[in-house]
Amino acid sequence: MTAATQQENQTVPENELANGNGIYGKEGVIVPVVNPPVDIGVALCPCDSDAVPEILKSISSFGDDPSLDNDNTRLGLLAKARDLVRALETPRETMIKHCWAQPGCYTAITSCYNLGVFSVLASYGGRPKKVTEIARILRTNPEVLTRLMKHIAAMGYIKETDPDEYAPTNFSRSLTIPIIGDGYPCLAGGAHKSCSKFPEYMAKTNYATPTDVQAGPYQYAFNTKMNMFEYMQSNQPLGKQFNHHMGGYRQGRPSWVDFNFYPVEERLIKGMDASPDAALLVDVGGSLGHDLQEFRNKYENAPGRLVLQDLPIVIDAIQQLHPSIERMNHDFHTEQPVKDARAYYMHSVLHDWPDDVCKSILKRLAAAMKPGYSKLLINENIIPDKGADWQATALDMMMITLFSSKERTKSDWYRLLESPELGLKVVGIWSVGNGVESLIECELK
Ligand SMILES: C[S@@+](CC[C@H](N)C(=O)[O-])C[C@H]1O[C@@H](n2cnc3c(N)ncnc32)[C@H](O)[C@@H]1O
Repeated sequence: MTAATQQENQTVPENELANGNGIYGKEGVIVPVVNPPVDIGVALCPCDSDAVPEILKSISSFGDDPSLDNDNTRLGLLAKARDLVRALETPRETMIKHCWAQPGCYTAITSCYNLGVFSVLASYGGRPKKVTEIARILRTNPEVLTRLMKHIAAMGYIKETDPDEYAPTNFSRSLTIPIIGDGYPCLAGGAHKSCSKFPEYMAKTNYATPTDVQAGPYQYAFNTKMNMFEYMQSNQPLGKQFNHHMGGYRQGRPSWVDFNFYPVEERLIKGMDASPDAALLVDVGGSLGHDLQEFRNKYENAPGRLVLQDLPIVIDAIQQLHPSIERMNHDFHTEQPVKDARAYYMHSVLHDWPDDVCKSILKRLAAAMKPGYSKLLINENIIPDKGADWQATALDMMMITLFSSKERTKSDWYRLLESPELGLKVVGIWSVGNGVESLIECELK
């Protein structure tokens, strides 16, 4: 065994930490002392030069003209491209990217979005425009705009065509669509402070798992008693932007209503109560109704009522929805008014709440369900024990910082949904891939 392996295999004796040897705390920050210290040279070499040849080989295995219409090919290539960037970057470069470049880019994009820069850039056929021309159209300060746009271009999100002259990219064009662009100001104004204050909150609470929906990291950061939904909806336009963001997050992703995902005909439509007021699907916390709209588009002639429920401020903000979809104000912390529906459906709702609150929401639904007939459909991420997808873990970071809640593993879901007091059982789980929300079907026991 080499000296290095011997060291890797060594266990740190517990009293080493307890007596302050090798580790010390200062103002809530724990600074581990590494022995022997890591040389600065490590931070200045590529993060993983040994991996580069293998990554290049797998990239070239996709060929010169990979079929990017095939999402598996595109995502596979993208994962390798990301691996390559991570392997080539030095740790110092990665650190600057995380600490300056990405937050700076987010700041610059949000400011330009609020000003309307991307709309101007995409207008007039998307011809290149000087910053002075954009500033004149928007009646804004060209000096600051010059700096913001330079960073966005340096990060590759708009195209620099000449000094201080830019053309749009497909990314910047997409920002002009509210369901894509509104995530920036909404999270900047109503969420990210909670992420930056999170380490401070955790140190103050001795790193206990946040579970308090009235005194969690969000309330600490925003100095409020409100939860994120309440805060955003009472600080418009954040609430409207959030509703759009929910519409944008789901675009282009596999959905349970796709024909190859969940057998809708066999499990929902077959056996459906034929009476005229029977409800097929009640979307609880369904936001602006994008899921029911998609269901109606795919199952045009499905029988039964489609009922969309959310808080009044969300329901009132709906601008377009298929006329067959009923809009209903409903607080899911209160009695479920639609009884005996074929299915009660919740998409990305339970992940917003810790277990005790989820149980109270689920109890209301279980009470409305008809034994042997009603189903509960939960459309959520299931975090695998290994190899979790980055979009799902990113959402978990949002959950812990914004809601004192979590993305759940399979055993978390079973523990929650089959809690004895709910009287529910999981009858099946349908999944189409890592990082795509699964559909969990439950019935009354
Ligand atoms: C993360 S969003 C998910 C929205 C939608 N299901 C989707 O997947 O796009 C959570 C939704 O729960 C709604 N919500 C929050 N508190 C609620 C309550 N007490 N009663 C009903 N809906 C609520 C929010 O307004 C929001 O639309």
